[in-house]
Amino acid sequence: MTARLVVCASGEGSNFAALVEAARAGRLPATITGLITNRAQALAVQKAERFGIPVRVLRPKAFGSVEEWDRAMVAAVQELGADWIVLAGFLALIGPRVLAAYPGRVVNSHPALLPHFGGAGMYGDRVHQAVLAAGETETGITVHTIDHEYDRGEILAQTQVPVYASDSVATLAERVKAREREFYPQVLARLISGGAG
Ligand code: GRF
Repeated sequence: MTARLVVCASGEGSNFAALVEAARAGRLPATITGLITNRAQALAVQKAERFGIPVRVLRPKAFGSVEEWDRAMVAAVQELGADWIVLAGFLALIGPRVLAAYPGRVVNSHPALLPHFGGAGMYGDRVHQAVLAAGETETGITVHTIDHEYDRGEILAQTQVPVYASDSVATLAERVKAREREFYPQVLARLISGGAG
């Protein structure tokens, strides 16, 4: 059975593109039915347009309250026909109504080895900066389900990525992202096929 995935992204969308390519190449038994973003200018939007994938822009600030935004998110994912919600660099907090509508079916990839280097405010380059500042020799990627807190929920799978003494934030970020573009589709493929992460 082919699962229908809605991807939520706020940034460059390299993971989003990797998921679309994996699905179209038959490496991920899924159809990406839509992209939801909170930033109309995100590069992910241009990528979705090139792929011919529907985009919904939902800016939390455009709604009167967090509850209204949460309701609009539920409506959008249902309208796009999602079985799973896949977060790929989405920088808005998923609300309780979305989580209740998709229990255990909201998945995220975090660019470090949770429970370390996660939590509120730990996203993008800040994660890699913290890993370098701590003198770690290893970082990685964590694919996990989303709970009511940032970077919480069940850890589905992790993979390690080396940190070199010569690394800058940019070189480390690129190494992690390169690995993530392979790893995230692989973990999702196992997950939606009913296997363990
Ligand atoms: C990824 O590293 C992801 O783990 C994190 O944000 C980054 C998004 O990058 N949550 P991109 O937009 O997919 O290029």
